[in-house]
Amino acid sequence: MSYSFDTIISREQTNCYKYDLRSKVFGDSSVIPLWVADMDFKIADEIIADITHAAQHGIYGYTFFYENLYNSLIQWNARRNNWHFTASDVLFYHGIVPSLNLIIQEFTEVGDEVIVQTPVYFPFFQSVETHKRIVVNNQLVLHNGEYQMDFDALEQCITPRTKLMILCHPHNPVGRCWTRDELMQLHDICKKHNILVISDEIHADILLGGNTHIPWATLSEYARDNSITLVAPSKTFNIAGLSISAIVCQNQYFVSKIKLFIERNQLHGMSPLNMKAFESAYTKGEQWLTELLQYLEGNLTCIREFTDTSNIIRLIEPQATYLAWLDCRALSMNDDELHSFFVQKAGVGLSSGIQFGKGGEGFMRLNYACPRSVLIQALEQIGVAIKK
Ligand SMILES: Cc1ncc(COP(=O)(O)O)c(C=O)c1O
Repeated sequence: MSYSFDTIISREQTNCYKYDLRSKVFGDSSVIPLWVADMDFKIADEIIADITHAAQHGIYGYTFFYENLYNSLIQWNARRNNWHFTASDVLFYHGIVPSLNLIIQEFTEVGDEVIVQTPVYFPFFQSVETHKRIVVNNQLVLHNGEYQMDFDALEQCITPRTKLMILCHPHNPVGRCWTRDELMQLHDICKKHNILVISDEIHADILLGGNTHIPWATLSEYARDNSITLVAPSKTFNIAGLSISAIVCQNQYFVSKIKLFIERNQLHGMSPLNMKAFESAYTKGEQWLTELLQYLEGNLTCIREFTDTSNIIRLIEPQATYLAWLDCRALSMNDDELHSFFVQKAGVGLSSGIQFGKGGEGFMRLNYACPRSVLIQALEQIGVAIKK
């Protein structure tokens, strides 16, 4: 490996959520923080060099979205995902969650229904509720250790007011990489009921165990023309704090609606340094990503060994994402007790499963994108706490 993922870099006193909000969130600033979904690894030197070069110019005036910025995203997806689109299909925006909020406002009315599948990244349902739309929850089902979509229940919960489906693809927190078969079943239901699909593909590059990602928009012409996909280099290259993402939409009528929203709300414009990081990540970050994925597989092996030996916490095998979904139900604790157990007895700060909505009860999410020694320490502490 040419990059070192073992190096521990202190993030304390950088105002980052993960470390500097520990006392606020866990009531203890010494817990090993494995919660917020960013990584404790230094980003690729190539990206740092490009940001530094741009910063050293010394003038940060208004900057437009330039051709190589579009090309970086277009070529990344053509090369890695066999997904082909053009610059006119791309709108840069300040993040995936802001994009979700934009789409909910622009493509639905107050009182319309939006489908989500819990347990899921909580801004999915929060964004719907914020704008006074109705959350329709088609809860995922856990079957033989793997989460699946419940297509029968989905058909039943759709009404004439169901307008949107927010798909988490791959899925945070359960780590599923949806197969073509599953996606096609969902596709056919959405097509039958004229439901617009928002596919959040922010985790699409963090693929494990030989799994592949099938962009929603590549499923069929219908899917391409009736969906909006949200992508970003933020998870992949650990630049989430730079707040830049892209909306990819191959339906020009939808694109014009999104543009109108951006203009109406004066939300255009972005930092030239963020744009540089975006471009640099997608053009120069591939080797770093390859090595990152190998490292993450190694971390996952440690978790697997721990859960196999402890034989009480069960790992839901992730196919994607650096987030491990841990089934802690055998500990027989309610969610408050579970939270206290991990913080007070084990000294680790995880995300409580219950935050992710129905189906999250009794589960915890562990972010394993950290140096291995930190992960091993955390697992040891959890092991000791269990024994006690
Ligand atoms: C599925 C999913 N979507 C979106 C985000 C956040 O995206 P952004 O920071 O661009 O709003 C996350 C972060 O964890 C996520 O897991």
